[in-house]
Amino acid sequence: MRYVSLENITDDMVLAQNIKDEFGRVLLTKGSKLSPQKRDKLRNFDVYGVYIDDAWSADIFIEPVVDEMLAKNTINALKEMNLDAVSDCAAEIVDKLMGADDYIHDVETIKEYDENTFEHCMNVAITAVTLGIGLGYNYYRLKNLAVGALLHDIGKQLVPIEIISKKGRLTDEEMAVVREHPTYGYKLLTKDINAFSATREIVHQHHENWDGSGYPRGLKEDDIYELAMLTHVCDVFDALISKRSYKEAFSYHTAIEILKEGSDTMFRSEMVDAFFRYVPVYHKGSQVTLTNGEDALVYKNNRGDMLEPIIKLRNGTILDLRHSELEIIS
Ligand SMILES: [Fe+2]
Repeated sequence: MRYVSLENITDDMVLAQNIKDEFGRVLLTKGSKLSPQKRDKLRNFDVYGVYIDDAWSADIFIEPVVDEMLAKNTINALKEMNLDAVSDCAAEIVDKLMGADDYIHDVETIKEYDENTFEHCMNVAITAVTLGIGLGYNYYRLKNLAVGALLHDIGKQLVPIEIISKKGRLTDEEMAVVREHPTYGYKLLTKDINAFSATREIVHQHHENWDGSGYPRGLKEDDIYELAMLTHVCDVFDALISKRSYKEAFSYHTAIEILKEGSDTMFRSEMVDAFFRYVPVYHKGSQVTLTNGEDALVYKNNRGDMLEPIIKLRNGTILDLRHSELEIIS
């Protein structure tokens, strides 16, 4: 099974999974061959890519750690702003990620309707917990992290929809309103006696930068709450690799380079280093290009060094990039 973005889909490709719309209705069934009409259908439903089965990827299997039911429950809990339900889902996400054999998870399946903030929050939570597990956080801390990461953009609900959904650049005034969303979220949660202080701080501080250039308060270095700092890295990475109404998705490689550049300015450098150690930045089954120009599939991630995964070449050769001169360039 491998991931192919919409523009690279060809007609003979066979779908490896059902494609559903945001209400769970099946648009195209697993095993069906793609055609120009089916591609149009995918485009109309804003599906950016699909998993397909072919000989090249026949020995790559992707089981999402967070199954469809849990993803749906979490998104509903967020939509309804039901904090108890969000907390239950957060605990389940932590359980699933802690119980996983390795830290590889598939976030692409819940990325198909990516314009939606809720899916973004879910991806950020999965990534944040993965990083937290890598850093050795205990269960209690992981759960707090998951709740905060799920709710990090809750304040956007108070930003006018015309601004949130505006296609194209925001004016300075509009940008100033958007920059209030961490404060709006903090205030919203202050009213709720069930919200933990960790959650509030993550929500309030998830756009603060290590060098003090962030918002809303311009906090600096260790004045920034660690779990907010962690959520910030995960939030930025997911935003970079996602398509938005105003931008195309960056490749994993470009997103990685941008995070590296943000070391010591946007992010604490140790947090970025840890991100590359524990978070599978190159998603399993995705296609990459190597320094020699060859295409390869991400075959397996190397925990401890996610920047150098094990890859599979077109001719079937399996190569561990930790022991190769070759590097991923896009
Ligand atoms: Fe945000």
